[in-house]
Amino acid sequence: MSIRGRRPRDLPTLRRWFTDPQAQWRDWDAPYLHAAQTTGSLAAYVEQMERTPPHPNERVVSLDGQCIGMVNRSETPPEDGGWWDLGIIIHDPQFWGQGVGSRALALWVEATLNETDAHVLTFTTWGGNERMIRAALRLGFREAGRVREARLVRGERHDSVQLDLLRREWTPLP
Ligand SMILES: CC(C)(COP(=O)(O)OP(=O)(O)OC[C@H]1O[C@@H](n2cnc3c(N)ncnc32)[C@H](O)[C@@H]1OP(=O)(O)O)[C@@H](O)C(=O)NCCC(=O)NCCS
Repeated sequence: MSIRGRRPRDLPTLRRWFTDPQAQWRDWDAPYLHAAQTTGSLAAYVEQMERTPPHPNERVVSLDGQCIGMVNRSETPPEDGGWWDLGIIIHDPQFWGQGVGSRALALWVEATLNETDAHVLTFTTWGGNERMIRAALRLGFREAGRVREARLVRGERHDSVQLDLLRREWTPLP
């Protein structure tokens, strides 16, 4: 498993996963947003990827050379303020729960600390996404905040959860 820049041959796979409105990953990644709106922005995202070269703020998660997901990051304004929010999607549920996501996240944290002046990193998720929360905690992230019952997912209220890690808390990967 590695993270790497996007290659042209990844695009059909990415298009397939990002434009399937029934894909299971959508039940976990921001399922509290309105589905129709998400479908629209994902279609626009795929078109933008198809038109533009890979950006360093996003990488493909690659298993045996095949694209199985993506990691991304964005700097919380202002620029050079030192706060980066990270994201991850392993598209195919057959790869969930086997440590692949945790490994990809570790590589992404390390890459982000090496490539940016980040002082603090965050993940933003919801209380029902136990795999995401546990993966982040295992990497050394701490719970930074919880807005109770802020997210409505399939008729049930869940907390909005943010996790943070300071640069000085990170132990570089061997
Ligand atoms: C979130 C995601 C990246 C996690 O990656 P993963 O490869 O599935 O997770 P891992 O196998 O590395 O396991 C992470 C933790 O979750 C736990 N876990 C695995 N399956 C679980 C399950 N079904 N329920 C609860 N916890 C589970 C693991 O035991 C591990 O915790 P531990 O280190 O304390 O033992 C991946 O599941 C995914 O992409 N999901 C869909 C999209 C998504 O939710 N993205 C994040 C949006 S904020």
